[in-house]
Formats: sequence, C-alpha cells, structure tokens
Amino acid sequence: MIYIAPSILAADYAALGEDVRKVSNADLIHVDIMDGHFVPNLSFGPDVTKAVNGVTDKFLDMHLMIEQPEKWFASYVDAGGDRLVFHVEATSDHVAAAKAAHELGAEAGFAIKPGTPIEPYLDDLEHVEEVMIMSVEPGFGGQKFMPEVLDKVRLLRSRIAEDGLSTIIAIDGGIAAATIAQAAAAGVESFVAGSAVFGADDPAAAVDELRRLARAAR
Ligand code: DX5
Ligand code: ZN
Repeated sequence: MIYIAPSILAADYAALGEDVRKVSNADLIHVDIMDGHFVPNLSFGPDVTKAVNGVTDKFLDMHLMIEQPEKWFASYVDAGGDRLVFHVEATSDHVAAAKAAHELGAEAGFAIKPGTPIEPYLDDLEHVEEVMIMSVEPGFGGQKFMPEVLDKVRLLRSRIAEDGLSTIIAIDGGIAAATIAQAAAAGVESFVAGSAVFGADDPAAAVDELRRLARAAR
C-alpha cells in the first residue's frame, strides 16, 4: 500500500480549510507540531489540529516535534489526532510512550532524526504502527532531501519482513517528484510532502503524480 500524506505546514494558513479540502485524494493528513525547543521553530497546536479535523474525515498523522511529548498526547487525541508520531530523541522511554498513546486509543509512531541510528529501535518495532524516517533536519519545510537516510529504511524493511510485522515505514522531508522513486525503491510506503503538494498550482494533481511515481518504483 502506498500512502501520500500532504503536510499542512506548507499550506496557506489563512485558507487552511480550503487547502485541506483540495487534497481530498490524499491518504492521510500530516500535521507538524513544533514547540520552539525540540526544533528551532513553532507551528501550531491542538486548536488548529481540531480545526483541521473538523474539515476532513482523513486520518491525522501527528508529527510531534516537541519535548516531553507524552505530556501532550491526550490534548492531541482530544483534538482529533489518530496517530501520535513522537521523536525517540525527545523521550526517555520510547516503548512506554508508545504504550501511553495506545492507552488513549491512538496509534503510535517513532520519528527518527537524520543523525539518529535506527539499530537501537529495531527490537521495539512491534510497539508502533509506523516508523517515520526524517530525510531533513526537522523544523522547516522546503529543505533538501538527504538520500543517506535510505540506508535506515533498508534496515527497517528487512527487519519488519524478518519479524513478520506490518509496521509502516514513512519518510518526511524533501519528498517531491525527483526524490520519491528512490525512497519507494528502498522500501518506504508512506510519503510526507509539504512544498511539493501545497507549493504546486494543483495540489490534488501533485498528490496523484507522487502516488504514480511511488507505485512505479516499488
Ligand atoms: C519538517 C516537517 C515536514 C515538512 C516537510 O520538520 O516535519 O513534515 O513539512 O516539508 P517538505 O515536504 O517541504 O520538505
Ligand atoms: Zn513532519
């Protein structure tokens, strides 16, 4: 299965509802939460998440780029978040955090910064529905894709197969028509795209094109 997840970080905030409705052909919506501490930028919080949830039935993948993410889990579930994808670098116990997400009725995901090795997490994949490999330093949209992180995708892909798991491998950062094929070939199933979707004249057409390129490369 291929999932295309537009990141509303790149949307027009003055017309957010309209932009979300434009990508009705997307598989899920990626919501970037930044706290100005874990990453050097601020985005939005539970209230904007709730507003987005009010204009779409789509699954909301919450990318929590925040310190002490567990503290905020309940707020984002109440706001309509469906999967809590927190940074392993931001918590002292990533398995406990995943369990806390599940106890709230949400799915859980590990997000992994470009410089963070994947090996320490390979034994814990059964605890999450998704692992999101960052292909840029988190904090800003519109950055250049880092192909070297695909080695982590390959490691993950083979461990997921070995262990018979259904964990989704997602990638976030710099995904566009020029980069999506290499990520798909490495084993990514879920593709976050901000500027490549909302920076396009026709965001829905951009989603279709990304999906076509990903399918062709698998
Ligand atoms: C960056 C965010 C990304 C961002 C991706 O910290 O996590 O989701 O929106 O933007 P593009 O697709 O423009 O790299
Ligand atoms: Zn993100």
